[in-house]
Amino acid sequence: MGKNKVVFALVIIVVFAIVGAGISLICSKFIKFGDVKIVETSAQGSAAAKPMVGTIVFDPPLPQDAPADIKDAAMLGYNILMDTQKYAPGYVGNKLNCQSCHFKGGITQGGKNGGLSLVGVAATYPRYRKGLNYAEDLVTRTNDCFEKSMNGKLLPPDSKEMTAIVTYFQWISKGLPIYGNITWLGIKHIQSNHKPDPQNGIQIFTQKCAICHGDNGAGTDIAPPLWGNNSFNDGAGMANPENLAAFAHLNMPFKNPDLTVEEALDVAAFVTGQPRLHFAQKK
Ligand code: HEC
Ligand code: HEC
Repeated sequence: MGKNKVVFALVIIVVFAIVGAGISLICSKFIKFGDVKIVETSAQGSAAAKPMVGTIVFDPPLPQDAPADIKDAAMLGYNILMDTQKYAPGYVGNKLNCQSCHFKGGITQGGKNGGLSLVGVAATYPRYRKGLNYAEDLVTRTNDCFEKSMNGKLLPPDSKEMTAIVTYFQWISKGLPIYGNITWLGIKHIQSNHKPDPQNGIQIFTQKCAICHGDNGAGTDIAPPLWGNNSFNDGAGMANPENLAAFAHLNMPFKNPDLTVEEALDVAAFVTGQPRLHFAQKK
């Protein structure tokens, strides 16, 4: 091969390489490849400045830090959750407060000692109920706890109290993505093949619960009632043994949860089997 032919071949190769690279660059603008990761950028910043966009972080604002125009409402909402007896007395029919189950007014990350979190709840409603053919909004869901967990009455949607609660929920949900996968919300049921034994549940109740909740489950100055006329009624989420077991496993005895999976299931079977008021569905 002559020198010219070698040079010619090299030029051809280089030209093809450049043209090829150009074509694939242009194509990549229009064609989406299966494994291409879409980097989301925020409206204000570049991807580099906000690399965590899309990641859900627990960092709720406090009600006292709400902006002036919503601060009174957010604070009232928070106070209703902390002391429902005092701030929404007309709507409560037992001795519980929202925070009996939604610890710290729901400003927790759930999990161990967190009770039932409400951070981000405003980003996950309305929730479409398959079969019922309606979308349950936050007012309806909140009223569900008033009627059942609190054995009380429905708050008018435009009442001062309901407006305050929803404002509070919106505020502590600030920055969380609508319908994002907010992992700390919701009860995670215990996965176990153990058959709950309410008889053993009596022993556990006597050893580990009665000291605070009272021998008859009717509550003491330290802890709210677990059954009877002053506790949640039989329509409440907590009246479902699977829910109570999951809650007790992570949270009871209060601040020092130590129930095994089996103990939690047994004591829940006993507690939910005790007498409580019946929820009469209004038609
Ligand atoms: C006896 C315990 C208990 C009390 C008291 C209680 N709740 Fe609840 N609440 C629950 C349970 C259980 C759930 C269902 C959690 C789930 O489905 O994972 C729930 C769910 C909720 C939800 C929806 C949360 C979600 O993730 O979808 C809201 C909102 C709520 N409660 C508000 C309130 C308010 C406001 C009060 C006081 C007026 C209150 N709750 C009192 C037990 C309680
Ligand atoms: C050291 C005291 C203490 C012990 C022991 C204790 N609890 Fe509680 N429990 C509390 C307190 C306090 C609350 C309310 C928390 C709040 O208001 O922030 C509570 C709330 C509850 C609730 C939700 C509210 C209600 O009254 O229904 C359930 C259910 C519950 N406890 C079950 C149990 C079970 C089951 C045991 C035994 C395994 C137990 N607790 C042991 C102090 C205790």
